Amino acid sequence: MRKPFIVANWKMHKNVAESVDFVNQIKDKLPDPDKVEVGISPQAFALHSMKQAAGDSGLRIIAQNAAAEFSGPFTGELSLRGLRDLGTDYVMLGHIERRRMFGENNAAVNKKVESALQMGVTPIICTDETMVQKVVNGEIHYVFQQLMDVLHGISLDQIKKVVISYEPSWAVGVGQHANVALAEEGCRTIRRTIADNYTYEIADKIRILYGGSVNPDNIKALMAKPDIDGVLVGRASLDVDNFLKMANYLDED
Ligand code: PGA
Repeated sequence: MRKPFIVANWKMHKNVAESVDFVNQIKDKLPDPDKVEVGISPQAFALHSMKQAAGDSGLRIIAQNAAAEFSGPFTGELSLRGLRDLGTDYVMLGHIERRRMFGENNAAVNKKVESALQMGVTPIICTDETMVQKVVNGEIHYVFQQLMDVLHGISLDQIKKVVISYEPSWAVGVGQHANVALAEEGCRTIRRTIADNYTYEIADKIRILYGGSVNPDNIKALMAKPDIDGVLVGRASLDVDNFLKMANYLDED
């Protein structure tokens, strides 16, 4: 059974005081952490204070990016060692905005994924690409080349630890209703890509999140799909009421 995972991606919003205040407003209203996992990815400078504010509420604190290198002359970068020491639960890697605006390519994301696994900070690997055809055991399969490149060299043992997100470029930040059928198709294709490259057992266990214009009105329909195990929410996660509705989607009518 894959535990649902609701993730807020705050991007470049909220200062430290606003971030901590948000946590204080939600922490007693979150779902049972044994049933639903909930996390927030704030700006880097708020990670520490949010971690402290979250206490034992079960709220996961997630970094938005990190460098592949553990230390050295990399001005402006964020080290995985530092994130681990801070108790950061997850790190998002290869988000579409990092790829589009900061030129991150598959090779760079691949190195970051390896480093995060080595440092023990669980990566949420973000993918956004359309599918390509591949022949596997004589059958035509649709697979994500981008995902395969990003997972290059990642072992059977390591892959079990990652979370993957599917955020098609046509859906991120546009504020329209997510196309539930296409969201499911993308997540199912990712699961199949994992099955083709690793094993069916691993593909069956790995969590795949959908991202792109998720909001309190469409979350239930998305989460009802068999291959969507969670969501990555940008804009709609910035408001306390909306966020709580999504975190508690199982209880909402
Ligand atoms: P959005 O962003 O929900 O505002 O579309 C999602 C994301 O970029 O993770």
